[in-house]
Amino acid sequence: MSDDFQSRVTAAMANPENMGELPNADAIGTVGNADCGDMLRVWVKFKEESGRKVIDRASFQSFGCETAIAAASLAMELIKGKTAAEALAMRGEEFAKDLGPLPPTKVHCTSLVEGALREALAPVGNAPAPVPSHSAAPATLMDAFNKPDEKKSGVKVVFLKPGE
Ligand code: FES
Repeated sequence: MSDDFQSRVTAAMANPENMGELPNADAIGTVGNADCGDMLRVWVKFKEESGRKVIDRASFQSFGCETAIAAASLAMELIKGKTAAEALAMRGEEFAKDLGPLPPTKVHCTSLVEGALREALAPVGNAPAPVPSHSAAPATLMDAFNKPDEKKSGVKVVFLKPGE
């Protein structure tokens, strides 16, 4: 791993933005990578702007590596002001472009971010976002994992296929 890449990740990690649960989120997506065991959840809140439903705020929580956290931190900023469809069109490499070229072993980390956003935003698309009740959803990833029954927790964890 290059020193440049590591120093950019370390800088992004030093002050990650948009970390933690977003109360009253309109959409939530959680994914895991079965190979490395890392997991990421995103929360997205929309607003109306010039007749479009755009992302007002987004946040994340991760049981993941530094690269996934750094990329998620960058991604939450990059998707602000975009529609769900526009954010869905973005790829993991775009989220992490400020980190510079990723080592091959770290490319999947950005896919985790892309996957979590896909899980959150795909049901929304261009249609008006329903405002689901998340009152039954656990507050944190740890809470979610501690729930013995996924259906009761209201949380769906999606494991990405290798190469995603
Ligand atoms: Fe798995 Fe980074 S090592 S997400």
